[in-house]
Amino acid sequence: MTAKKLIAANWKMNGSLALVEAVTQQLTSLSSSVDVLICPPATLLAHFPVSQHYSLGAQNLSEHSGGAYTGELSAALVIEAGASYVLVGHSERRQYFAETDELVCLKMQQAVSAGLTPVLCIGETLTERQQENTEQVIAKQLAAVYASHPELLAKSVIAYEPVWAIGTGESATPEQAQTTHAFIRRQLAQFDSAVAAKVRILYGGSVNAANCQALFTQADIDGALVGGASLKPAEFMQICQSAKE
Ligand code: PGA
Repeated sequence: MTAKKLIAANWKMNGSLALVEAVTQQLTSLSSSVDVLICPPATLLAHFPVSQHYSLGAQNLSEHSGGAYTGELSAALVIEAGASYVLVGHSERRQYFAETDELVCLKMQQAVSAGLTPVLCIGETLTERQQENTEQVIAKQLAAVYASHPELLAKSVIAYEPVWAIGTGESATPEQAQTTHAFIRRQLAQFDSAVAAKVRILYGGSVNAANCQALFTQADIDGALVGGASLKPAEFMQICQSAKE
């Protein structure tokens, strides 16, 4: 729905200084008609040169603002390292690190109050889809955030990532993705129609250079959250090029 697309890279626990260099090189020739966000491991954030070609994001943050929490990173720390965005509630965090909707809300609050834009990840598992519970799951994930702090969604990007499509090579079809994105926008409109019209909704789950174009032509798909393919600089660049206005 928004004019300019956002292509976000989620490197997960991958990458290296060499990849930072390769990706930043590739992106120097990118025009400003697409917004690019790179979410590398936090240790690499400060190694990215400041650039008008991309923004940086962390993949996670603590629900606390600071203190005795060994191993955790606060919003202030990732901002100082260069981040202006943060992924929150990625399905791998929900699945492997037991992140609940409640914890996701606390993290979003930390992010927004420190000035980071959260990328709120939502989506259903394969079982939930097979049981035709996709809309119910998504509605619950969004409602949890709205109920805790109604103003957070207006300051966020939403990433719809069906769990069955992440890292599997089996992307949702453009029609499946569009149907769910339209549902997400209708849900947001129930809270606030102005917010629904302006919030960017990204699709994630096995996006690559071959399937991105068909996804980007869908009315409610405002960009992509790219995992595996974002680790290949030339392919990631192709995806960004496909998203140009
Ligand atoms: P994938 O990952 O592109 O490798 O499926 C997407 C994500 O988890 O954000």
